[in-house]
Amino acid sequence: MSNKMWGGRFTDRPDAIMEEINVSIDVDRHLYAQDITASKAHAAMLAAQGIITANDAKNIGKGLDTILSEIGAGKFTFKRALEDIHMNVESRLAELIGPAAGRLHTARSRNDQVATDFRLYVRDVLDETDAALAALQQALAERALEQAETVMPGFTHLQTAQPVTFGHHLMAYVEMVARDRGRFQDARKRLNESPLGAAALAGTSFPIDRHATAAKLGFDRPMANSLDAVSDRDFVLETLSAASICAVHLSRFAEEIVIWTSPLVGLIRLSDKFTTGSSIMPQKRNPDAAELVRAKTGRVIGALNGLLIVMKGLPLAYQKDMQEDKQGAMEGFAALSLAIRAITGMVRDLEPEPERMKAAAGEGYATATDLADWLVRTLKMPFREAHHVTGRIVGLAAKKGVALHELPLAEMQGIEKRITKDVLAVLSVESSVKSRTSYGGTAPKNVRSQAKAWLKRLAKNGKTR
Ligand code: ARG
Repeated sequence: MSNKMWGGRFTDRPDAIMEEINVSIDVDRHLYAQDITASKAHAAMLAAQGIITANDAKNIGKGLDTILSEIGAGKFTFKRALEDIHMNVESRLAELIGPAAGRLHTARSRNDQVATDFRLYVRDVLDETDAALAALQQALAERALEQAETVMPGFTHLQTAQPVTFGHHLMAYVEMVARDRGRFQDARKRLNESPLGAAALAGTSFPIDRHATAAKLGFDRPMANSLDAVSDRDFVLETLSAASICAVHLSRFAEEIVIWTSPLVGLIRLSDKFTTGSSIMPQKRNPDAAELVRAKTGRVIGALNGLLIVMKGLPLAYQKDMQEDKQGAMEGFAALSLAIRAITGMVRDLEPEPERMKAAAGEGYATATDLADWLVRTLKMPFREAHHVTGRIVGLAAKKGVALHELPLAEMQGIEKRITKDVLAVLSVESSVKSRTSYGGTAPKNVRSQAKAWLKRLAKNGKTR
């Protein structure tokens, strides 16, 4: 027997391989709720426009509700022979309500149907991602407030550069996540137009009301061009692009967690909740969650690359290639969601080692810039000269194997005789961070006010700015 949804002109069954390569139900079954929601909106509109009877629309609506609860309860049998979610739902609808089910597909095609379903799906992903990222910002800002005074080394080239506060470091990620949220919110604006009613590619001769279905489904407006409506997947690409950038941010943080928890470094600790042991080495505490956040980034970027490659050679309008848009994207979104939740968990869980942080902050002459700045400020020395003098003092301290603040004043005066004991006040790591009060700088005072401002904003409405 040929396919009962489209097999009118077919006399033979598809080859088993044909069926296997064509079937998408294993993936697009995840669109069932969106598919049913869109079908209900379509049926109601068809009745309102006098295209089908009110009675048929009522039965279609009821039947669709039954199917929704059957699938939700795991009582629905998905049939591979019916290819995809659209035909599985419609076929079940016919079992439930009879021939009226066949009227649902009036003035519609699976092309606008799948484009609508997937837009609704990705829109839900965007909203869930935004909420998850707001929770991450909340956790980061809370910890930043608590750690506003904790001094740690700041790095460039992964070399100790200048002391910073741990709170300041955490707040850097709050800002990155804010831009991530902005990108997802921008993507949502462009996504939020309805393809429904574009039909196969050219629109329809039925007097449909696309504005009504668009409004019913929470879209801002119908898409203006039917060819575009059924054939672009830029809303997926854009969401995956934003997801890739976000995943890269999370991965950089994960990498820091891996480095900082290493016994070689020991700046932070993760509890048993976010570490695992080794089956052979009893002493190990492995930061697996952080490593996997780092690795999940590959899935997200892979999904973006995969879909870019699927789309790049496709002429308008719908091509079956586009059926391959869903699996990678869904996996990429799931990977990002898990990564966000894992990072949020680790932010709440991690504990700094303040003694180690402070000691490391002072290693490697991290307050050398503070000494140079003191020479500029107090002795009115040009910065380049101050840099040179400081370099000689650092060299002397290194030769003697002492920290800058341990170098006797007389030794410093041997290099620059105008240096006074006042200089000692700027050589400690605490005074170094305290002095960096320029806008956006690391001073505890700045960190506290930034963290508080964010917590207020997040409490109000989850706003990103
Ligand atoms: N399963 C298809 C997809 O995901 C639905 C659209 C099928 N359209 C068609 N003309 N065969 O793309």
